Amino acid sequence: MKKEISKTAPVILVGFMGTGKTTLAEYIAHKENKTFADLDKIIEKETNKSIPEIFAEEGELKFRELESKYLIDSLEKYDIISTGGGIVESVTSMNTLSKLNNIFWLDTDIEVIYERIKNDSNRPNANNKAFDDLKRLYLSRLSRYNEIAFSRIDTNIEVDILYQNLMNILNADDQYWRV
Ligand code: S3P
Repeated sequence: MKKEISKTAPVILVGFMGTGKTTLAEYIAHKENKTFADLDKIIEKETNKSIPEIFAEEGELKFRELESKYLIDSLEKYDIISTGGGIVESVTSMNTLSKLNNIFWLDTDIEVIYERIKNDSNRPNANNKAFDDLKRLYLSRLSRYNEIAFSRIDTNIEVDILYQNLMNILNADDQYWRV
């Protein structure tokens, strides 16, 4: 992690499923009166299919292509972008993300994550997975989140405190957004 904070680029949240990316992104957008995008929701809207449908009918690779495409698309359009946990599986998306600033890696204990997502039928890569399998997937992605992020934030605290912490980082040496 050796990135900078940029005042003109969007804030991007990455991290494993169930770490609270969308909740925090929505919260910041609301508090700061900024625009917000959730890549999964954009993909669902644009394809008119649910994520499980895309995985089942077109495969995960196709989903990753859509994710890469809408990531680039969103950079010009939104102030805050929440990504899907598997975005780091795509070399194309990793190339895009590795060039960007303002990426925050949201993370928490895999035990907590597992309880949140284990039976979620909207998440094909988590649904009905045994704890050990999900943990293996989680561990395999950690170094990639670490590689692209400016900093890691443990999300096992209240969203308002998370928001304050993140704004403190963004505002560390100057005024971010509040010009
Ligand atoms: C995925 C994470 C999901 C979604 C899709 C695949 C993954 O996003 O993009 O189900 O492989 O980790 P969330 O992280 O928002 O659950």
